[in-house]
Amino acid sequence: MAADARTSDAGGERTLVAGVDTSTQSCKVVVRDAETGALVRTGSAKHPDGTEVHPDAWWDAFREAASAAGGLDDVAALAVGGQQHGLVALDADGNVVRDALLWNDTRSAPAARDLIRELGEARLAEDVPDAHDRVVSADEAGAQAWADAIGSVPVASLTVTKLRWLRDAEPENAARVAAVALPHDWLTWRIAGYGPAGDPSAPLGPDLDALVTDASDASGTGYYDATRDDGDDGRGAYRLDLLERAFGRTDVVLPRVVAPSASAGVAHPSVAGSAVEGGALLGPGAGDNAGAALGLGMVAGDVAVSIGTSGVVSAVTDDRTADGSGLVNGFSDATGRYLLLAVTLNASRVLDAARAVLGVDHAGLSRLALQAPPGADGLVLVPYLEGERMPNRPDATGTLHGIRLGTSTPEHLARAYVEGMLCGLADGLDALRALGVTVERVQLIGGGAQSEAVRRIAPQVLGLPVTVPEPGEYVADGAARQAAWVLAAHAARSAGADPGDVAPPTWAASSATVVEADPVPAIREQYAAVRDLV
Ligand code: XUL
Repeated sequence: MAADARTSDAGGERTLVAGVDTSTQSCKVVVRDAETGALVRTGSAKHPDGTEVHPDAWWDAFREAASAAGGLDDVAALAVGGQQHGLVALDADGNVVRDALLWNDTRSAPAARDLIRELGEARLAEDVPDAHDRVVSADEAGAQAWADAIGSVPVASLTVTKLRWLRDAEPENAARVAAVALPHDWLTWRIAGYGPAGDPSAPLGPDLDALVTDASDASGTGYYDATRDDGDDGRGAYRLDLLERAFGRTDVVLPRVVAPSASAGVAHPSVAGSAVEGGALLGPGAGDNAGAALGLGMVAGDVAVSIGTSGVVSAVTDDRTADGSGLVNGFSDATGRYLLLAVTLNASRVLDAARAVLGVDHAGLSRLALQAPPGADGLVLVPYLEGERMPNRPDATGTLHGIRLGTSTPEHLARAYVEGMLCGLADGLDALRALGVTVERVQLIGGGAQSEAVRRIAPQVLGLPVTVPEPGEYVADGAARQAAWVLAAHAARSAGADPGDVAPPTWAASSATVVEADPVPAIREQYAAVRDLV
């Protein structure tokens, strides 16, 4: 650590940093040694279920998790990773206008379709078609236009679609919106001491201009172009024209985008850092997938397959993609590069559904699934239980194909659920490969990676070995690593050095198990034969 690094331990010997993951289901806090990355303390607390949640529940869970982690008075820096997308709309007094809509709330799917068509019509109206041009529909032109503009084709998860929905479905609420934030932006703001006017836990009041974010989360709003240089300290720029198209207004505060290792302010001493001289620096934070990539230290050739509430196949790249098919999102990562993401809505909850149907626990589900042969004798689950995002089928339901007397056993059913869920992720891996991503190593993370059946069947379905790092809070760890990076960059600046030369700290990688199995292409072939019948 450089000269003025804030030592925070009682003996003044080590510097601690905290990482927070405000995820869909819970809030997790890790406290780590800034220098070595050694885990010092952890805590967690649950979030309510549902796809719309009052953000106060996140604040309460954060405080409970921080206290379970032994408090944050002694941390010298802190950063927040969180569920991407969603909509946290604030009024001029810093109050939440309505419950936040989460990334997995699909009510804005029609708005997404409208926005795609409208931008397509605008693009077609601008271009005089050449006689040799293929005739392109407004939907196709719109999908490509959005991908070119922001790296992604809008789906219901993206904030831009939720703003369109709010404009049309709840005009009184829409009229009250003075700022639009995402979950991690809002929690960072609260940790800095801001919040609703008159709230004793928000001593700095409702200063909306104090909202900050980072490029990884901004790139998931649908109105941020990560490739456009606006000359500010962050990379990229908001596309106010797209915000206006969706919401009909641009007179709202959008969080300032802070560069990856730059400080986003200081935590309020009532929340963190009161025992540290100068307080706890705040990192810009990150969307959860970018946080996990930083926590895992992903490099070119690495692909993470995360089985959580969402299923995510991701890779870090130097160039942003513009996939007009909509299968892959071209978001930013948390280090100044890009994060390609293929996201399914049906991951660990498919396993939960199988457990509910079969009346077994996780170990029981694995036991059953591993007793059936690969391919479950032709029993195939297409797992669109909650609609689907990749491919974009918000109204789809799941289907079971190949039910015969011989496949009507708990073992076959268990295997079909696990294979179906993994086939959805294998489609994501193919979509990344189609954009030029080289796959050298697949790291399996998230709660679902703890299932014995998932680990053993994954190489058969994905067609290559999987590396399973030891269970951990990779999003919170990524946030902690960012906090340590911000601290080191700050120290470099104070010492007169160039903070841009400071790289993220090198922390020892956690141990991992490599699981190998012969690929069984028939599993994906039988899945592909029925996938589109839904
Ligand atoms: C990514 C996405 C999900 C959420 C879940 O685009 O929507 O992975 O970030 O937390």
